[in-house]
Parts: sequence; C-alpha cells; structure tokens
Amino acid sequence: MGVVILGIESSCDDTSAAVFKDDVILSNIVANQDVHKAYGGVVPELASRAHQQNIIPVVEKAIKDAGLSRDQIDAVAFTRGPGLMGSLLVGTSFAKAFALANELPLIEVNHLHAHVLAHFIKEDENDTDQPDFPFLCLLVSGGNSQIIVVRNHLDMEIIGQTIDDAAGEAFDKCAKVMGLPYPGGPLIDKLAKEGNPDAFTFSKPRIKDLDYSFSGLKTSFLYFLRDELKKNENFIEENKADICASLQKTIIDILMTKVIKAANDTGIKQIALAGGVSANSGLRNKLTELATEKKWKTFIPKFSYTTDNAAMIAINGYYKYLQKEFVSQDVAPFARTEF
Ligand code: KG4
Repeated sequence: MGVVILGIESSCDDTSAAVFKDDVILSNIVANQDVHKAYGGVVPELASRAHQQNIIPVVEKAIKDAGLSRDQIDAVAFTRGPGLMGSLLVGTSFAKAFALANELPLIEVNHLHAHVLAHFIKEDENDTDQPDFPFLCLLVSGGNSQIIVVRNHLDMEIIGQTIDDAAGEAFDKCAKVMGLPYPGGPLIDKLAKEGNPDAFTFSKPRIKDLDYSFSGLKTSFLYFLRDELKKNENFIEENKADICASLQKTIIDILMTKVIKAANDTGIKQIALAGGVSANSGLRNKLTELATEKKWKTFIPKFSYTTDNAAMIAINGYYKYLQKEFVSQDVAPFARTEF
C-alpha cells in the first residue's frame, strides 16, 4: 500500500510542494520568486505575497504530477521553521487548512533537518545510494554553516557552526561588493571556473574547535578590493575570474579544514553535503578529492535537492509519520531555532 505524504516548503523565497509514496519521490514542484532580483536580496513582504499566489497552483500540480488525487494523501508535512516568519505563515496556514479539511495528520518539519534528510530521497524503489548511520553532514546554506553528526533519521547533533555569517552569505555579500547580482554564490562558482584560485590570498579565521566564522573574510575582501580599486579603477573587471576563484578557494578551505577535523575527532568516515552552497562545483570537487585521500565515503545531493524544496520536507515527514510524530492545529511557525 504505502504511505502518501504531501510536503510543503515556504521558509524563504521558494514555494514548493512534493508528494511521496513512502520514501520514494512522486513529484516535486518549486516556484521561484524572481521579484527579489531587483533588490539584491529577499524582501520578506514580497516573499509572503508571492507564496500566497503560488501555494495553491504549486500543490495542485504536485498532486496531479504524482498521478494521485487529494483523497489518496495520508498526511501533510510542512516547514515549521526556521525561516522568514511571513513566508512560514503561508505554508503553515495552508498545511493546517489542508489537513483539517481532509482530516489528515499534520507533521511539522525543521527546515535544517530536512536539508540533511535530502540524502534519503529515493528516485525509485531500487535507489540504495544512501549514507549509513552515523555520518557527518556539512550543512551550508545562505543562513547556516554547520557540521552535524547524524545518528539516525530523527537524531542529529550539531558539533560545529558559524558564530557569525554563513558560507552562503559570504558568497553573496562578497559578490555584492563586486557588483554581481543576488544570489552571488552561483555566479562566483561560474566565474571561478575560468580563474586562477592562487591569484590572490585572503585571510582565514582562527576559530576554536569545529566552529566557523565568515565575517572577517567579508571585511578583508572589502578592504582588498578598495585598495586595489584605488590603484586601478578597472581592477574588478580585469580580474573578475581570478578574484572569484581565489575567494571560492578560501571559503572551501575554511569549510573543509573543519570537516577534516570533525572526521578525525569522531572517527566517522562517511561525509555528506547539504544546503544551497553544496551546489558549488569547487566544494563538490574538493570533497571528492579528499574522499580519495582520506578513504571517506561521500554523499553529494542531486542538484535539485540542494536548494529549498518540498521533497526534503516530505521525506522528513515520512520518517516522522512512521514514529507517529504528529502536531495539533494550534502549532505556530518559528523564525529561529537552535536545531
Ligand atoms: O539552502 P538555500 O537554497 O537557501 C537557504 O539559505 O535557506 O541556499 C542559498 C544559498 C545562497 O547563499 C546562494 O548564493 C548559495 O546557496 N548557492 C551557492 C551556489 N548555489 C547556491 N553558493 C556557491 N556556489 C553555488 N553554486
């Protein structure tokens, strides 16, 4: 028979719905919001309004593409947080209304846990390329940079995290300083492919244990460009690829130094990536290179599951459904969380 889960994601600027049968994906629809491009970042009020417009057509298409009807759904899983409060309210309210109207159990999902569980999304019944427990997950997105020990589907512990900016923020803010549009991460990745990663060096933070810091890099990058532009006003234009390659190499070095330490400290040799920044080609290559050197088994999510999507919410919902972890109609979203 199987359990059919409808997943809903609306934590930031992507409205998404997915349908799963057990742990196998049947559909995953994502509506992006181009409206933010003109502002150099996500405008919360505009995001909430776009979610309101997108949510019904996105859910309808997800159910239709799954080849099912509404009455075949067994439970609704939704992102409760963390994220933008106005955006979360749209998805949460929709999920509550859908569950109430169809008399279905409601499952809350932590957006960060969901990024990690993206590794358990099966494309079909025979898909077995999944990590064993325990494994380490480097979760890198626009809002988070964390190293997580994953003990089972619902048992995770953060052993390192950023004390200021996230890795994605470092990409985006440095891109903004260079005059590149938002989000800068994918553009830096693209430009870096043509550049020399050793052309320039930027200072790396000295933070204890497994924690990260990216705000110092952003400041040193800003001062570096300011000084070079005083000497040559075309500096950025003439060295764009080299600047991007050097910046990307620095961010990857900072990230991987702590992952190596975490693997050594814990003795865990299965390493996974998650979150929007895991789409970065340099980071993916570096992890593959380290895997050969350190004899790690690595897991890199499919590109479509790295950025925000409801498939990862539905898979999390499935594992909570098995444990009967349901919430009542008085559940409210949360903007921030410890994990
Ligand atoms: O996980 P995500 O979609 O959203 C949240 O933060 O919730 O991550 C978005 C972040 C942005 O900072 C974006 O610039 C970054 O992921 N990103 C990348 C790449 N693709 C997305 N950063 C570097 N290289 C990429 N290819």
